[in-house]
Amino acid sequence: MLRFPGGLYRGSMELRPPDPPLSDRIVSLRPWTLDDVPAIAAACDDVEIARWIHALPSPYRVSDAREYVVSTESAWKDGLGVFFAVVDCASGDVAGSIALQVLDRELANVEVGYWTAAPARGRGLTTRALRLLSDWALREAGAQRVQLRADVLNTASLRVAEKAGYTREGTLRASGFNARQGRRVDYAVFSLVAGDAT
Ligand SMILES: CC(C)(COP(=O)(O)OP(=O)(O)OC[C@H]1O[C@@H](n2cnc3c(N)ncnc32)[C@H](O)[C@@H]1OP(=O)(O)O)[C@@H](O)C(=O)NCCC(=O)NCCS
Repeated sequence: MLRFPGGLYRGSMELRPPDPPLSDRIVSLRPWTLDDVPAIAAACDDVEIARWIHALPSPYRVSDAREYVVSTESAWKDGLGVFFAVVDCASGDVAGSIALQVLDRELANVEVGYWTAAPARGRGLTTRALRLLSDWALREAGAQRVQLRADVLNTASLRVAEKAGYTREGTLRASGFNARQGRRVDYAVFSLVAGDAT
């Protein structure tokens, strides 16, 4: 670790699996396994996910889910991303997905992304998962900044960010392109930084 006048500089951050696994007893986060493929395929073949996460295939097939799980396994090994199933502790079912990807290893900047299966929405599970993962990233994993971008039209996602305590910094106007909708996307940018953690 290097020291700079402004504080600690983490050097080359690597994300490793939390031990013990993250849980608030309502949701728990664990790495994906191939057993989750049917649940991922069922959840991601969904209009809202297709609308807001335009990089995902639509229709979404079992083979897409399998490819995703395999890709997360290799990203975990590289230390450049952590990809979790969000499990509803009451039922044991997969409720959704949450992931962090390293944006800048030297600066320890990471970005978070998520989706939640339609039947599990509206119960606060995504907000819980986001709080758990952000807290771990900043307190345990060495991240200095967790960034979250959401389409300014994606009201539910904007609300999740606010509820999880993120600060809205501004808008990256026309910074994305939603090929499915044929429009450029304004992204609201939020962050949680190490100094915000309570
Ligand atoms: C965004 C998403 C993950 C939210 O999941 P969720 O589990 O329902 O989230 P939570 O229950 O924690 O919170 C949702 C909040 O948004 C609000 N909300 C949901 N839909 C809304 C809408 N259309 N307009 C206004 N608010 C809305 C809910 O009321 C709730 O806020 P509240 O607690 O103040 O009432 C889910 O809708 C989803 O998977 N969408 C498709 C994929 C996606 O958009 N991913 C994010 C990409 S940035």
